Amino acid sequence: VPAPRVLSGIQPTADSFHLGNLLGALRQWVALQDDHEAFYCVVDLHAITVEQDPAVLRRRTLVSAAQLLALGVDPERSALFVQSHVPEHAQLGWVMQCLTGFGEASRMTQFKDKSTREGAGPTSVGLFTYPVLQAADILLYQAARVPVGEDQRQHLELTRDLATRFNSRYGPTFTMPEPYIPQGTAKVLDLQSPDKKMSKSLPDAGCINLLDDARATAKKIRSAVTDTGREVVADPVGKPGVTNLLTIHSAFSGQSVAELEQHFAGSGYGDLKKEVAAVVTEALAPVQARTAELLADTAELERVLAAGAARARGVAAPTLATVYERVGF
Ligand code: ADP
Ligand code: NA
Repeated sequence: VPAPRVLSGIQPTADSFHLGNLLGALRQWVALQDDHEAFYCVVDLHAITVEQDPAVLRRRTLVSAAQLLALGVDPERSALFVQSHVPEHAQLGWVMQCLTGFGEASRMTQFKDKSTREGAGPTSVGLFTYPVLQAADILLYQAARVPVGEDQRQHLELTRDLATRFNSRYGPTFTMPEPYIPQGTAKVLDLQSPDKKMSKSLPDAGCINLLDDARATAKKIRSAVTDTGREVVADPVGKPGVTNLLTIHSAFSGQSVAELEQHFAGSGYGDLKKEVAAVVTEALAPVQARTAELLADTAELERVLAAGAARARGVAAPTLATVYERVGF
């Protein structure tokens, strides 16, 4: 049996990925390679749904790819590519837009969130239709599985609806993708506002960037909001900040939260923060070193991405050809 196909993408909209991206998605990308045929893309078409500076976008696309490689995405096993290098995404995206109802697109709650977010700026039609492009991203590769967080569930539902609609109107064409929550996926909270998930759209003090140096990381962890108690115990409702630090520790040390509670019995938040800073900076150091190495030879990095795009097109082009033929082109 061939390994199930998996597709995932990430936007190149920051100078660095953060700890939430790592523990909620990218670690799983790496692990999934063991038993899946993986297609991983840096989704620059999605990035321009909000205004981007061209030079900054180009740089962030490379920095994003370098981080993915540094984290362990293996271009020998997986197709790692940049979305705009595979024109079939935009082409299938158009066909999918013509299959999507206006009301159906209007029901996507992420659009409402993103377009009304403070400082969001003028809203583009691209931001409105981006879930439809996402559907094309997935269907193009006949992906059986899509790793999704809660916030993306609705988009995967739309993808499934569009696949069903296309298949029934034009004949069986697309594999039906299933949502997939890989083992060990963790939600990371903002260090300053532990009632919200860690995000690049919140102030930097609460967000640990993978490329932050060790001093900055230690400082952010030292300043993390905890609560007025003293005991280091997990309690998501009463002690979200402490619980978040335990989650992060556990993700890097491999010790369970229960083991950590025992380990920290009798010690305070200061000790917890010191250890979290130590395990995080130790884990990030080699990723940072490897990222810097990869970025020192952008010609080689671009070759890796070109090979990834060629491999992706090997699957995307025949899918698009079938679609074009079926719709009457
Ligand atoms: P951001 O919220 O910083 O804009 P994205 O929305 O680009 O991050 O998320 C990229 C990936 O990282 C998605 O798979 C998302 O589910 C995951 N992710 C983002 N933030 C977190 C978090 N705080 N905890 C867990 N996973 C997260
Ligand atoms: Na987000």
